[in-house]
Parts: sequence; C-alpha cells; structure tokens
Amino acid sequence: MADPRPQDDSSLPPHLLFGTATAAYQVEGAAQEGGRGPSIWDTYCRTPGRVARGESGDVACDHYHRYGEDVALLADLGVDLYRFSVAWPRIQPTGKGRPNPEGLAFYDRLVDTILGAGIEPVLTLYHWDLPQALEDEGGWRVRDTARRFGEYAGIVADRLGDRVDRWITLNEPFCSAFVGHAVGRHAPGTKEGTPALAAAHHLLLGHGMAVGELRAAAAGRVGITLNPDHLVPATDSETDHAAVERARTLHNRTWFDPLFTGAYPDNEKEVWGDLSDGAHRKEGDLETIGQPLDFLGVNFYRPIMLRDAPHTEPDPARRTAVDIGVEQVPYEGVRHTTMGWPVVPESFTDLLIDLDRRYPGLPPILITENGSARPHAPDDTGRVHDEDRIAYLRDHLAALGRAIEAGVDVRGYFVWSLLDNFEWAFGYDRRFGLVRVDYESLERHPKSSYHWYRDYLTSHRDRRRRVEGA
Ligand code: FCB
Repeated sequence: MADPRPQDDSSLPPHLLFGTATAAYQVEGAAQEGGRGPSIWDTYCRTPGRVARGESGDVACDHYHRYGEDVALLADLGVDLYRFSVAWPRIQPTGKGRPNPEGLAFYDRLVDTILGAGIEPVLTLYHWDLPQALEDEGGWRVRDTARRFGEYAGIVADRLGDRVDRWITLNEPFCSAFVGHAVGRHAPGTKEGTPALAAAHHLLLGHGMAVGELRAAAAGRVGITLNPDHLVPATDSETDHAAVERARTLHNRTWFDPLFTGAYPDNEKEVWGDLSDGAHRKEGDLETIGQPLDFLGVNFYRPIMLRDAPHTEPDPARRTAVDIGVEQVPYEGVRHTTMGWPVVPESFTDLLIDLDRRYPGLPPILITENGSARPHAPDDTGRVHDEDRIAYLRDHLAALGRAIEAGVDVRGYFVWSLLDNFEWAFGYDRRFGLVRVDYESLERHPKSSYHWYRDYLTSHRDRRRRVEGA
C-alpha cells in the first residue's frame, strides 16, 4: 500500500519541474471538425482488425471541446508544465500548403488557456499523426516528408513561438519507424524492411529541418523525445550480450548516435545486414540531424529482457520485417502493469546513468513520459483507488532521484497521462490517466493518484520556496 500522505522526495532537487503529458490523437477527438484532415491513425483505426474492438480516436476524451475543463484539472493539480501535441492534420489538412486558420486558432486558445492557468506549455510537433495525404505520397519513407515536416514546424513556430518556450520535434521516432513500418502494430501498419530504415532516417532528417525552422523563428528551447530502452541480457552468455548490442542499435543508437555523436552506429552492417542500402542518406544529412539541442526528452516505462533468437518469430502477427535475431524474455518475480510491462524502477536509474556515460555532453533531460496502465473499476462515487499507480510513480520518482544524485542532469518529469485516453492499438481499456474518463458521459473523475500527485507537488513547491527564500 502506498503512503497516503506523500512526502516530497528530498533527494529530488527543488528546481525539478513537474507536469503531465497527453497527445493530440489520444485525447482530442473532433476528428472531423475544425477543418482537420485525416491522419494515418484515422486510416489505421478504420482498417478492420487493427485496433482492439475497432476503436478509434474519433471522439477520444473530447479534449478539443473540453480543454478548458482539462486545463482546470491541471491547475488544481498544481503542475509547472503541461506537455501536449499539435495535430499536423489540423494545421495542414493535407500535410502541405496554406495553414488551416481554425487549426491554428484551436492551439492558440489552448496555449492561452494553459498560460492563463499559470502553467508552462510544452509543445510536441509530431506525436504520430501524419497527414494521410503525405502517407499516400510515400510518408516517412520518402525524403520530401522531412522537408514538409520542417515547413509545418515553421508554421506552428510563427504562430505560437511568442508564447511557447519548449518545443519537442518528434515523439518516439523509434515507434514511428519500426512499430509503424516493420512490426505493423502502429499506423501505417506495414511490415517493410528497407523502407522502415529509410523512415528512421527521414524522421531524423525531419527533426533536423524542424530544428532549423524553430531556430529561425527564435521559438525558444528545442528538443526531441526518444524512448531509449534499458536492455538486459537474459543470461550472461556471449550470444545474449551480442543480441542486446544489436537491439541497442535498433532501439537506441539509431537515434542517439546521429543526434549526439554526429555518426551512424558503427555496428550497422552486422545489425541490418542487407536491409540497409544507405541510398536514402545524402551528404550533409548528419549535420542537419546533429544540430545542438537545448534538452532531450526521455520516455520511460519498463526495461526489456532479451535473448539471442536467430530464428524468425513463428507467429506472423508478431513477426517484424526488421529481424535482428532477438527475442523478448519475460521478467519473473516482479509485478506487471495492464500493458504486461514489468515494473522495475531501478532500471530507470540504470538507463539514465548508462545514457549519461555513453553520451558525454548530452543536453539536460526532461522525462517527458512515465506512468502505468492499471485496472480502473471505480467505487460507487466514481473514484478509482489506484494505489498501485501511486506506488509506481513514487518508486520511479525515487529512482529518478538516484540518477540525479549520480550526476545525471534531469530538469523535469511528466506523468503519462493526465487523462485516460486512446492507447493506440489497444484502444480504451489501457488506462494511464491520473484522471478517469467515463467514455459514455465523457465526465472526468480524478483518481487517488491525482490527489497523491497533487499533495506531492504541494510539498515539492513548499521546499522549492523555502530553498529559494533562503
Ligand atoms: C508511449 C507513447 C504515448 C503513450 C505511452 C503509454 O510510447 O508516446 O503516446 O501511448 O507510450
């Protein structure tokens, strides 16, 4: 049982900022309103058999209409920051051309409401909802999409750069490239080999082009959100260690090396084999990709244990077009969330320290997502007693404190998520929110974890005030 009266963890520095996060397609709904064009997620959701129970983000939490109520919940929670994403197809319904005034006006109102509540907006430009029209022209597999993304970034920066100070270009490009184009469990839902690697490169290039536009607009601080994995070999065998190194390239180095070392991973040949022909790489791309950043966003949920598995996955549904000869091994003896993810807080500490050591000179880190999906049965008053979520957050905050003590420069932490929302291919039954959403009535009900986080933030702020006043 979690301590019902949370004490701020004094190992966390008082200047650490706290927030919650959401993403446009997961919360907004209003898919056909405000001049929004279709995205690859609209298409994916409409394809039978792709998303659990045939669900979609058509209505989601109806945040598009209820954002005022949601920002009031944030204000009451007492967060410093709120991370949201802009839906590209609201701004450019076909991914190119003149911006849609209604789309810009919506984010104008949202940003003003967030600021009016005394909260700093942290804006993600791309949380997976590519305009379908661009997908029809090749999507991230083609270079032009990177250029389009840069233009889109410039449009949003021109409109909101006077009020938004922290900009995240991409959220988890690993998922866009590989879960989208090789595993096929995310939109666009294909199983391709070489095109998935081209997508990875063009996402990075698009990031670089967006950085250029954001700098030109003097928009503020710029970063990217990655989901580096903490990868653990199942045994001490050489083959399992080698499997982890291959997975490290797929999951982590593909992103970190070009962004922070100016080079592609040195073991690419061994990992990709014939899949990578490098044809999509052009001279100068690494310079565009590797421009200095003001912060790095890290999303963390769970570690992954792996073993060497040179044979292709027999289950076609789980098979990936980028087969690097590894297999996931279940964690024994720990609790698992509704996602089936193992709860191992110390792996959060280990991951952050490991990244810090591997990449000297990393920019300051914001933990842009951390949280857990839990069952959601409310009591008679509509309250969800999610003590296990409280324990998850408390233990991960303590783990974060240990990484900071070890010298990792972390400046902020966001809980995923403010609201229960559309959890991609799993639909609505994987609930990550501090606030329960009743999907029939669309009413919001703060859970026990919301009250816990609020108390935690109160005590953190008190300590910050004492330190600042001292
Ligand atoms: C991350 C996504 C986020 C949410 C969480 C649970 O990979 O960025 O949108 O779905 O997982």
